[in-house]
Amino acid sequence: MRSSADPSKGSILALRSYPERTLDRWAKHYGPLLSVWLGNQLVVVVSDPGIAKGLMATHGAVFSDRKEMFIESQTVLRGRGVIASPYNRQWRKHRRIASLWLNRKAVESYTHALQFEATDMITDLYTDGADGLADIDPQAYVDRCSLNNMLAVTFGFRTDSIHHPMLGRVLRLSRKFTNITRPVSNLVDFVPILQRLPSDTRRRARKLHSELLELYGGLIEEMEKSMQAGAEVQDCLVKTMLLKKTKEDLDDLDIAMLASSFMIGGTETTAAIMQWCTALIPAHPHVQKRAHEELDRVVGRDCLPTAEDVDSLPSCRAIIKEVERCHNPHWLGTPHMASRDFVYGEHLIPKGTVVVLNTWTMHHNPNRWKNPMDFDPDRYIDKQLLSSASAKLSSLSERDHWIFGAGRRICPGMLLAERVIWLTVSQMLWAFDMQQIAGKPIDLNEHEGLSGRRPRPFEVRIRPRFEGARKIVDEDIKRRNA
Ligand code: HEM
Repeated sequence: MRSSADPSKGSILALRSYPERTLDRWAKHYGPLLSVWLGNQLVVVVSDPGIAKGLMATHGAVFSDRKEMFIESQTVLRGRGVIASPYNRQWRKHRRIASLWLNRKAVESYTHALQFEATDMITDLYTDGADGLADIDPQAYVDRCSLNNMLAVTFGFRTDSIHHPMLGRVLRLSRKFTNITRPVSNLVDFVPILQRLPSDTRRRARKLHSELLELYGGLIEEMEKSMQAGAEVQDCLVKTMLLKKTKEDLDDLDIAMLASSFMIGGTETTAAIMQWCTALIPAHPHVQKRAHEELDRVVGRDCLPTAEDVDSLPSCRAIIKEVERCHNPHWLGTPHMASRDFVYGEHLIPKGTVVVLNTWTMHHNPNRWKNPMDFDPDRYIDKQLLSSASAKLSSLSERDHWIFGAGRRICPGMLLAERVIWLTVSQMLWAFDMQQIAGKPIDLNEHEGLSGRRPRPFEVRIRPRFEGARKIVDEDIKRRNA
């Protein structure tokens, strides 16, 4: 395995901004399996699907641990919340509890609520976009749709407008989390001496922990009180955890951090994909036109597409997959760690090595993707499986992408995320003709924004796709509200 040339602090600094670009350069220079010292930490960067599978999936027993990052796991999540937990019994228990609300049967059971949120968002965009007469930035609407889905699953309630104060609070905390827990660029994570010194990052991490407790811990306390008072409480993850508190030996911090992980892990990631769809679809009218023709042919104009239509709408499915390939919300995912020494080919990967999946390079490999920088949904037109199912295939050329990670730590929320994205994007395509506005081109470049890689603010025109579309949407909402 070849090492990057500039070990220690120089490497961390090179990774501070747009780290995926640095890793891509390194991968091109040093190869698909390279190692680098970040402070006192050996990090292996994997830029090839075969190696990713060989390590993280085939040898999941070795590569499923997490390094106890000083900021993310020790200071913010305090070792709980699944995402940052070491690979141990507690992680297994918390992941099993999380799965009760994320497995296939669970997602089916609340799909009607996800469908409602998608249609509700369509109505708001029709109204606030004045049926195509006003310029509108869809991003806040998409954020609220995603927020409502995660609130429903986690806490059993929803917000009623994009101006609801909960939206701003949740997004602020998610963004703080993303900014403060960058996977390979926090100096203090890799230089232990810095952990003993007061620092701005440490102060912000402690504050974030308190804010998570204040917001989500507060909601949990309220729910517990309601349950104790015998009030009717909507089924949701937190209710399940409160009911199982004694049996599963969960303390208040376990419950608060697991609920926080749902809100942090599920809201902005899913929203980012949907936001890129609202930017890329109007910027590629021929792609939109083909999806419209397909929707007319398969679904017709008398009802909105549903979860059942996913198999019969290849063009719509392909748009989503291509957006996910081009715009992974977190290019470096969440690093894994080797829990024992492991020999891969002729390379020794010592116990404690952090393993980072370089998905940018994997998603832009010209040997797999012709003209990889182009947005071209056609490359997925024959891929019939959902991406979550494609991640389980042995053939790597059939795997759609790597946005959900790999191996035993693969995102447990991917079925929920896929269902939300499908319902929202297929309904938007059915209901809208989305148009770029002359003189206001949409910036399609990724930028290191507040969180992940969401698009810069932009405006579009959102017209009802055909006469009578709005009536069908309104009737659908009425029926579901009844
Ligand atoms: C498009 C949306 C999403 C993306 C791109 C995404 C991506 C990821 C990635 C890359 C990981 C790390 C996987 C690894 O270590 O290999 C992860 C873990 C996780 N995600 Fe997601 N995620 C999404 C949606 C969700 C949703 C809706 C939830 C719902 C609660 C969720 C909850 C989690 C949790 C709890 C973990 C930690 C798993 C573990 O460490 O065992 N994610 N996600």
